[in-house]
Amino acid sequence: MVIAVICGGGNGAHVCAGITSSQPGVEARVLTLFADEAERWANATKDHDFTVTLHAANKDPVKLVSKPSMVTKDPAEAMRGNVDIIVFTVPAFAHKNYLEQLKPYVKPGMILAGCPGQAGFEFAVRGIWGELALKVSVMSFESLPWACRVLEFGRAAEVLGTKATLVGAVTECTPKPSSDPTATLQKVLGDAPKLVVKGHLLGITLMGTNGYLHPSIMYGTWHKWDGKPLKEVPVFYNGLDEFSAKLLSDISDEVVATAKAIMKQRPQVDLNNVSHILQWYHRCYADDIEDKGSLYTCIKTNRAYKGLPHPMTKRDDGSYVPNFGYRYLTEDIPFGLVVMRGIATIAGVPTPNIDTIINWAQKLLGKEYLVDGELKGKDLPESRCPQRYGLASLDTILGLA
Ligand code: NAI
Repeated sequence: MVIAVICGGGNGAHVCAGITSSQPGVEARVLTLFADEAERWANATKDHDFTVTLHAANKDPVKLVSKPSMVTKDPAEAMRGNVDIIVFTVPAFAHKNYLEQLKPYVKPGMILAGCPGQAGFEFAVRGIWGELALKVSVMSFESLPWACRVLEFGRAAEVLGTKATLVGAVTECTPKPSSDPTATLQKVLGDAPKLVVKGHLLGITLMGTNGYLHPSIMYGTWHKWDGKPLKEVPVFYNGLDEFSAKLLSDISDEVVATAKAIMKQRPQVDLNNVSHILQWYHRCYADDIEDKGSLYTCIKTNRAYKGLPHPMTKRDDGSYVPNFGYRYLTEDIPFGLVVMRGIATIAGVPTPNIDTIINWAQKLLGKEYLVDGELKGKDLPESRCPQRYGLASLDTILGLA
């Protein structure tokens, strides 16, 4: 029996709970630390089925009716007995709390999988768990396995699409684990998506593409905004302009240059899992893009993004102003671009384009990360850049020291 503790209480956690608890030989437990979610979920499901409906193109929907063995907010209860794997299916800003509360119950040989881990996941694990992190196999994946949503809290959720493959990386624990971490997670998730685990964990951090995609479009659209309200809500991805696409491409070049500089200095480290975002679009959205010619057209003609709007606030008179308090900046700067900047600094790679966006966004957010071109702002501890955890050399960020 594989025991999996699923962390979170949102869309991903609901779907993971349903899918995992229906796998043979797997026990699924849910740990949600947020507000009264555990209580509400446990009550909702007490005398009621828990259903996850799987949709897939050209197939009839499949209904899974299967409950996790527990939903709790108590880490001691969730981690009782021989837990094999902890799966994070919760946004990155919530990881710190889970890592801190789970720490007393983590045992050598366990697996921790971030699905997604998002940029800086491994730094947070090492920063919070310390030496213990070396005794755990840490996995990070570039996304959630599914596009999904809760239909009725604690009772029903649906999968709109399952990724065919999910790319990730692992740092195995020392001593070597008795069972293969990838095989264990695959057993927990079922046959799909097929897990493709290769290269160094840092490569998954550097491919935290939301961290540069969203801020680039926000900056491109709003950095010259005259402050006048708009009559309509602009379209986010499909509405991007050539300027934002070029900025995004330049930032992606800075990220790729960072990976190359690290491999040059540490040839034993495989960061071939880092690619330009154009190749990433070709791989992840192969069937959704009408015109694959350039990065601009890949985003502009991407059907998966159809109609998704800019985050805006509606005013009393019916006009709109941009909402700079949305996660495209509040999360994607501290858990995205600031992380990339921290790694690039250690690798010795200049990042003029990343800096332009951080400098612009931090003013809007009322935060300080970069000061005089250095990562020494007062709000750095809220970010996931490696320096914030005292990881300031190449060997420490790579886990070689
Ligand atoms: P979600 O938005 O459903 O997560 C909400 C959950 O986060 C809440 O239910 C709660 O458990 C926790 N939470 C919210 N506010 C909190 C707070 N202040 N403190 C602590 N915990 C709090 O997230 P979802 O959709 O499950 O996504 C999980 C991750 O997967 C995210 O990083 C998301 O970007 C990514 N993702 C999601 C996809 C989807 O289709 N839902 C698709 C691809 C990636």
